[in-house]
Amino acid sequence: MMNQQQLKEEIRRLAEERDALIMAHFYQRDEIQEIADITGDSLAMAIEAAQTERKVIVLCGVHFMAESAAILGPDKTVLLPRSEAGCPMADMVTAEKLREMKERLPGRPVVTYVNSSAAVKAESDICCTSANAVAVVNSLDADEVILVPDRNLGRYIAANTDKKCHFWEGYCPFHDQLPEEDVLAAKEQHPDALFLAHPECRPQILKMADHIASTSGIIAYVKQSPVKKFIIGTEVGVLFKLRKENPDKEFIMPNSLLFCQTMKYATLEDVLKCLQTMSPQITVDAEVSRKAKLALDRMLAVPRD
Ligand code: 13P
Ligand code: SF4
Repeated sequence: MMNQQQLKEEIRRLAEERDALIMAHFYQRDEIQEIADITGDSLAMAIEAAQTERKVIVLCGVHFMAESAAILGPDKTVLLPRSEAGCPMADMVTAEKLREMKERLPGRPVVTYVNSSAAVKAESDICCTSANAVAVVNSLDADEVILVPDRNLGRYIAANTDKKCHFWEGYCPFHDQLPEEDVLAAKEQHPDALFLAHPECRPQILKMADHIASTSGIIAYVKQSPVKKFIIGTEVGVLFKLRKENPDKEFIMPNSLLFCQTMKYATLEDVLKCLQTMSPQITVDAEVSRKAKLALDRMLAVPRD
């Protein structure tokens, strides 16, 4: 059996041999973020998948992220080290149910969070991530929009736009359950800390935040801030990058439940195995992919705020 160092070296060697780009989301295990070519949020990974010249993408994240990479890089082989790593929020909406909502609310553009299946994206006018959601909605020439599937991101957008918003009632089981009491207790215990929250948290939690941002937004905010202590209102995996970039700063998690199980499925052994076997490969039906790509491309064309 290989030790962790040998595993890392073999993964890097094989990635070069296969002309593979290893991308890891900020919620992945520390050791996977360590060996990745690129770590990023959903938006950064989508942009990179569309631009990379490598033949293979090893997507260390969840299923919808690998689908987006396959859609944006149709000539690439996209590997997801653990194919069963899904996103429970993405599973809360289906293409069929979304079609029913569109029939009830005709003429309103559908803005779909990238945390969704390719089939749902294919039913949408434009995608968004937590990093560009408000800019995407404000870019639309419409007075009303349908926001799918995250009700919390939806309400956050609604608070930052003049457009009338219709929400899908999906949520992230981890961000949505963060209790106010835990945030209050952390604030009381650390009065000198700033509270940073992801827009997947409930509105009551976002009201308590000093800054609201995507994972990459939280990382960027900490880096430029003179403050030394932060309470983190997103998944615990983000601490890896925060600690690496800010060894002089302290980070407090409000509880131990901000832990996304599926994001943690993949191990170094899984990454090595997927490069050895070139599987599991993620592919998307050609027609679904064509339609979903329109929604993703429209998102990528919106200038960042
Ligand atoms: P980011 O796009 O901010 O990385 O968020 C993705 C996600 O799944 C948050 O739970
Ligand atoms: Fe999905 Fe929540 Fe996990 Fe993000 S943290 S991948 S939204 S379940």
